[in-house]
Amino acid sequence: MIKLDITSARSFLEEADLNKAFQLSNESLVHVHNKTGKGPEWTGWVDLMKSPNDALLNEISELAQAIRSDADVFVVCGIGGSYLGAKAVIDALAPFFPGSFPEIVYAGHHMSARYLNELVAYLSKPRNDGKSKSVYVNVISKSGTTTETALAFRMLRDWMKTTYGDEARKRIICTTSASGGALNKIIDADGYKKYVLPDNIGGRFSVLTPVGLLPIAVAGYDIRALFYGAVSEYERIAHDPETLVEYVSTRYALYKAGYKVDVIASFEPELRSFGGWMQQLMGESEGKNHKGLYPAVHAYSTDLHSLGQMVQDGERNMIETFLVVDQPIDDALLPADPENYDGLNYLAGRSIHDINTKALLGTSQAHHDGGVPVLSLTIPKINEESLGSMIFFFELATAVYVYNLGENPFDQPGVEDYKKAMFKLLGKDNA
Ligand code: PA5
Repeated sequence: MIKLDITSARSFLEEADLNKAFQLSNESLVHVHNKTGKGPEWTGWVDLMKSPNDALLNEISELAQAIRSDADVFVVCGIGGSYLGAKAVIDALAPFFPGSFPEIVYAGHHMSARYLNELVAYLSKPRNDGKSKSVYVNVISKSGTTTETALAFRMLRDWMKTTYGDEARKRIICTTSASGGALNKIIDADGYKKYVLPDNIGGRFSVLTPVGLLPIAVAGYDIRALFYGAVSEYERIAHDPETLVEYVSTRYALYKAGYKVDVIASFEPELRSFGGWMQQLMGESEGKNHKGLYPAVHAYSTDLHSLGQMVQDGERNMIETFLVVDQPIDDALLPADPENYDGLNYLAGRSIHDINTKALLGTSQAHHDGGVPVLSLTIPKINEESLGSMIFFFELATAVYVYNLGENPFDQPGVEDYKKAMFKLLGKDNA
């Protein structure tokens, strides 16, 4: 399903270093599967693939269908791994104009008062036909205590109760741990519907749990195809780990050779949010003890006109990973123009996707020639199955890569430091 091409990275590496990296990656892969590496208690995202919970997939699909038939707006309230996976899949599949219906909007992912005020004003504003908007809120927080999310949820809950009274109870769905955390207290007190994120799955590995599945299903996408796309990838890798091991080993050997930045780039703008999900998965998993490749997301060809110069000719410390799609969701032919003032008639009748592909190949060549090792990962097309497959591929690749680094992929101790400093300034008890 996923094709890897490392031809344009190979010349930057010594054969012996790559071979060593292969050996290490194979060992790390065994550690993930056998739960013998660091943080084995957080490898539940692999177990999910072994015994898919069809009843849960059906239940989520049914609830999503009921919400879809009534909602105008579905608010996903969460931060980091609690929303990036859903956003990655929804943005990849949703039409650009006007996007999914019901409209999926995000909250709890920062602390902008202006954003929250405008969101509440938008939810309060009647539809074009004069009727009130039908709003549902899905608050997602594994810990149930994350400040950004809790703060937004307090404001949204307040608005929901004022707007819908008792009916708010049916319109608020919570996804959190089985027990503990402030969100569980609120659920117990107000009686909201609750989905559980199992303790053995961390936020950034949780997109194939209710964390990601409910918002994705409400947006109208086939969560069964998504989930089973991941299961197929799991089975493929179990049968033949070559692609995964080659990808991780190349990336690791390049890191060991001194490269510091991994530019995750795609020529399909709808994959920008997928890059955002990868950025968090990789960044939060590997950035430990002063190690790790900094993951930077570029959406081409847009960013060739902002960051292309840096990639081509700036500090030579980056590798580039292209996410490539064989078949576009849609295509168009460039019309001929008798005047040809723009000089584009040499492209008349050509498909825009074909032109975009030539831009990709040209960019890859130019960046390679400019001293950037380039890796390409290609999927056949953007659909639920391929996205599921990429999700599992990158989750596993990240775990294996971080084991190669000798670190725990599943914790994020560094994230606590800003919280401690912030709580102290805010005067929180015991901060
Ligand atoms: O990957 C992670 O664990 C984090 O990014 C969390 O998802 C993020 O910090 C949000 O945490 P919580 O779901 O507890 O609100």
